Amino acid sequence: MAKLFTPYQLKNLNLKNRIVMPPMCQYAVETGDGMPGEWHNVHYISRAVGGTGLIIAEMTAIHPDGRITNEDTGIWDDHFIPAWRHIVDGVHSYGTAIGIQLGHAGRKAEDANPPVAPSAVRYDGEGYNLPHELTNAEAEELITAYGEAARRAVEAGFDTVEIHGAHGYLIHQFHSPLVNKREDEFGKDLPLFGERVVQAVRAAVPQDMAVIMRVSAREYVESGYEVDEMIETFRRYRDAGVDIMHVSSGGEGPARKGAMQVGPGYQVELATIIREKLDMPVIAVGLLDEFEDAERVLEQDQADLVAVGRAMLRDPYWAVHAAKSLGADADVPVPYLRGYPN
Ligand SMILES: Cc1cc2nc3c(=O)[nH]c(=O)nc-3n(C[C@H](O)[C@H](O)[C@H](O)COP(=O)(O)O)c2cc1C
Repeated sequence: MAKLFTPYQLKNLNLKNRIVMPPMCQYAVETGDGMPGEWHNVHYISRAVGGTGLIIAEMTAIHPDGRITNEDTGIWDDHFIPAWRHIVDGVHSYGTAIGIQLGHAGRKAEDANPPVAPSAVRYDGEGYNLPHELTNAEAEELITAYGEAARRAVEAGFDTVEIHGAHGYLIHQFHSPLVNKREDEFGKDLPLFGERVVQAVRAAVPQDMAVIMRVSAREYVESGYEVDEMIETFRRYRDAGVDIMHVSSGGEGPARKGAMQVGPGYQVELATIIREKLDMPVIAVGLLDEFEDAERVLEQDQADLVAVGRAMLRDPYWAVHAAKSLGADADVPVPYLRGYPN
């Protein structure tokens, strides 16, 4: 029996299999108002029809200035709830669970002028503006905004929320010594901002809802942090209420030469380290395109769930095809059965 197709349960999160569609920004809000539209509806429902166990909707901004671009989705106001509920209901009707990634791009907000950040340190890349250093009161307001966004996600019917603490966005900026040069409490204690966000989210969602957090387990820039240095930070996040760590890496700036070795399963080892050191469930992600590679991660007990991103952009039916290939019962939609004669 392929492990990919064994069910998974944590708190009230019930998954029919262990295949996750990770958050992937679509930059497809043509109206520029943050509202998910027909593209998002079709995009997510297609992956539900394709048999995915859990979909995590793309990085969705908790504040208008938290969008990477103005084409990003938002959840910074109650008026977003019905559009998200429509997507959630559609995905649920095909037996797939769905979460949403709550994010703020901080200094990587390309269309915000100025963007905000823990400190006035510009992102090293073309087209990025010098950020405004958040005042202590503004940082507090953003913590509250994460909690409010989580409450809206619950009202929209999402099964879980994922806090975006990776890829050089706001929470990562706060816990990275390369960006956080503050002198207040959020600078003296680098994990404090992220920890407070986790607490705000935890307080806004039901006790039995599993909360996921995405982290960059290591940085690739010159003098960037390594996973071992981050275990205590991630432990703080776990203890504040994170149930599952979704382990990615990088995104804080241009990688130093040779630091990033990208190949099949290149981030799995990081997920396993966090799983073992913190004794908590993890999602492994990163070039697990091949069915056998994804299956092996579970067979070798390296992670609890496996996320498949770009391969699922190419093939919405990745899960159905994985089942066919690995000899598991495939969840072929009845109207499509004639496409699968064997
Ligand atoms: C088009 C695209 C958009 C992405 N947007 C997000 C995002 O919104 N949030 C996030 O945490 N990661 C984002 N990612 C990273 C993916 O979630 C995933 O971690 C990465 O693509 C590696 O997995 P893969 O090799 O299976 O694609 C994005 C990746 C792609 C290709």
